[in-house]
Amino acid sequence: MQSQQIRSTFIDFFTDRGHEHVRSSPLVPDDPTLLLANAGMNQFKPYYLGETPPPFPRAVSVQKCARTSDIENVGRTARHGTFFEMLGNFSFGDYFKSETIAYAYELVTKGYGLDPERLWATVYLDDDESIRMWERVGIPAERVQRLGKEDNFWSMGVPGPCGPNSELYYDRGPAFGPEGGPAVNDERYMEIWNLVFMQFGRGEGEGKTDYPILGELPMKGIDTGMGLERLAVILQDVENVCQTDLLAPTLHTVQELAGRGYPGSGAEKVSFQVVTEHARAMAFLIADGVMPSNEGRGYILRRLMRRAVRHGRLLGVEGPLLPAVTGSVIANLGTAWPELVEHAHLIEQVTHAEEESFGRTLRQGAKLLDAAVRRAKEQDAGTLSGETAFELHDTFGFPVELTLEAAHDAGLDVDEDRFAALLTAQQQRAKSGGKAKTAAALRRQEAYRDLVARHGRTDFLGYERLSAESTVLALLDEGEPVAAAGAGRQVELVLAATPFYAEGGGQVGDTGVLRTAGGAVLEITDTRRGLPGFHVHTARVTEGEIRAGEAAEAVVDARRRAAVARSHSATHVLHAVVRELLGNHAAQHGSLVDDGRLRFDFVHFSALSAGQLGELEARVNERLLADPEVRVWYADRAEAEQAGALALFGEKYEETVRIVDIGDFSRELCGGTHVTHGSQVGGLRIAGESSVGSNLRRIEAWTGHEALLSADRERTLLRELSGLLGARPEDAAEALRKRLDLLANAQADVERMRSAELAALAGTLAEKAEAMPGGMLVATRVDGVDAQELRRLASTVAQRLASGVGVVVLGTPHEGKALLASAVGSRLREQGIEAREVLAEAAAAIGGGAGGKGALASAGGRHVEKLGDALSLARASAAGVLSRSAR
Ligand code: SER
Repeated sequence: MQSQQIRSTFIDFFTDRGHEHVRSSPLVPDDPTLLLANAGMNQFKPYYLGETPPPFPRAVSVQKCARTSDIENVGRTARHGTFFEMLGNFSFGDYFKSETIAYAYELVTKGYGLDPERLWATVYLDDDESIRMWERVGIPAERVQRLGKEDNFWSMGVPGPCGPNSELYYDRGPAFGPEGGPAVNDERYMEIWNLVFMQFGRGEGEGKTDYPILGELPMKGIDTGMGLERLAVILQDVENVCQTDLLAPTLHTVQELAGRGYPGSGAEKVSFQVVTEHARAMAFLIADGVMPSNEGRGYILRRLMRRAVRHGRLLGVEGPLLPAVTGSVIANLGTAWPELVEHAHLIEQVTHAEEESFGRTLRQGAKLLDAAVRRAKEQDAGTLSGETAFELHDTFGFPVELTLEAAHDAGLDVDEDRFAALLTAQQQRAKSGGKAKTAAALRRQEAYRDLVARHGRTDFLGYERLSAESTVLALLDEGEPVAAAGAGRQVELVLAATPFYAEGGGQVGDTGVLRTAGGAVLEITDTRRGLPGFHVHTARVTEGEIRAGEAAEAVVDARRRAAVARSHSATHVLHAVVRELLGNHAAQHGSLVDDGRLRFDFVHFSALSAGQLGELEARVNERLLADPEVRVWYADRAEAEQAGALALFGEKYEETVRIVDIGDFSRELCGGTHVTHGSQVGGLRIAGESSVGSNLRRIEAWTGHEALLSADRERTLLRELSGLLGARPEDAAEALRKRLDLLANAQADVERMRSAELAALAGTLAEKAEAMPGGMLVATRVDGVDAQELRRLASTVAQRLASGVGVVVLGTPHEGKALLASAVGSRLREQGIEAREVLAEAAAAIGGGAGGKGALASAGGRHVEKLGDALSLARASAAGVLSRSAR
């Protein structure tokens, strides 16, 4: 059975049984505690926690998941992957254990035709109920085993719903290992389906088991997950996931690139599988908007890419690997997952760029490593230090495996313990920073959840009006509810209904004023979403005392809101024009829509030229001034997609979506506030363009009044500059160019004159040279020169002395310091005489040290009054040097 049929069999089975088919959420989850989607239940977390009422009691999905905790196992076992598709059925307060177990058994035996005799199950410790249920449907008690928390109690790995589970296994037969059931061997007995009985909420704590259970869930239910890949391994009767129809074409591509066949075992087999499996994961991550970087999910992606390249090199693939292998993933899985096709160009560009930059890293790292190895050998150390290995890893991204390899080749050990210690220390630092942050965020979240459970979501009125009468539902101080707050206090404020827009979709939250029935006045400084659909206002009490439960009037700052709306509509137009001009790959990748200004990030592979920016700005303004109508409408998601509405990268949308059209050239899913006609934006002015990461560009622009003001600021500046130049603004550039030319000429003249002066001075000094035994000597004070001129002078004089047999010492007071310079002639240099010798004692006399090498040396010190003495000392040393050279 091919994977497409495995998916559809699953979906059909459950939709026939009243389940709503919900599409996969993006890999980037709408959950601050979670880095990447790791289970089908992620997107339903708010239902189990009671934050949002479930729109349907049962659901079925095929969810894109990524898990990298098992990354080391990829390629070593048949079943591990960093990306997988999870088939799941869910119940929210509807059916529970017995139906789930019955469904699972029926589907695997009838729908997928698995041999009932080969099915095994596990249950959590004393869950006798589940054992009886498995027995009832057809798995005898001797094929049901009990396991502990480690195996049969499931949680997301972060705070959220959790519960005991029961797993279904398939016996792949004696060829895969000894008997004894899943408790003994999980390669032969392969887990295929995990049925979780969601009952509890977990708090924060380490790992799989060490966390507090917070209590029963408001909404108990069922969450199951079956790995599509594992089922495909069984149904297609192959040894591992790379041989299923999901990955076989990609494995084939790797073989072609490597120019060798896929072996049945050994290290090469692992490399083949790593490249194949990681290729799929990276294609999906990039399609969902993740870009390689050094932190968070970007780092996970980077690690996958680098690991794949490394294993590719082990297989002898030297040329570009990633674009080809991800290309084959797109070709093979693009029908089931159209986002791959949609972002094919992006995937190609990103993989290509990252592979190149990793190539540079490897070359640079290899050089540093060579140097370190050489040093270690010179010092006769048998070991490369842990510090070196760590620096290579941490600063240069050089994989430690390569360091180990190269060191061993050179007959060195690596201090791996020290390396591990440094790595752990660094990870701990990163973790504790993140932890404090999550603790505060969690406290707040708890309070919000509690309020939503009691009062429901906020009634948002802000699309139609800017002020409203409402009730203060709660006041929070650092997440703790308070009954009242007096003047000067900073609080978070929750209203039953509000006209205040909560920050989202790039648009900043509204600000304004709140006046309570009791006479308190509050300044609202920000509004954000505490939870989906739940507005939290940040406020400061400026007058009186506010009490929870009071009636109040909330008034949005209308001027600011209008300015923000201009920026928002301008952003949509900019997005449309950027794609027109640069191509469809140039999708929006984050934005900031603010009072009079906007920031727009998008995918592109090179900087925009001044010409392109000019054209972009002109086209946006042309569009705006044609005064297109801005129209807002609602539809269900499928309809909106059909109508070609642009959804943003990685955003999760509700089933009913809001669509904003501008004229006939822009259609986006958007919850923001807009102008009603394009000309109300009043114009856009680009302030700059820059890079914000690999393949990501940023445009910053002014809108509305700010666009006019920015032109005004430039005009004022120009007026000031032209005033200084005494020219009209339009002639200012020409006037400035002329001045600069004049200045350059004048400077050249000054330098020429100074050179002539110094040359004349050098001549005079050379004439005054005394003949000493062994050569000529000049030792004298000069005035009115700086340190550089003094050195130049010394050197010129020395060159002029007869046949290069002479020593020159010059001294000068300069800016409160005594300066000395000495120079020796070429013949003396040939005898190995250093100019510095002459200055040693003299430098000490003025309180400094002599520096310089070869024919020229200099010194400087604080004792100006000792300049004469110093010159005498230098003169004596010079005479000594000369007479020595004569012998
Ligand atoms: N959440 C469970 C899992 O990921 C079942 O879907 O295994």
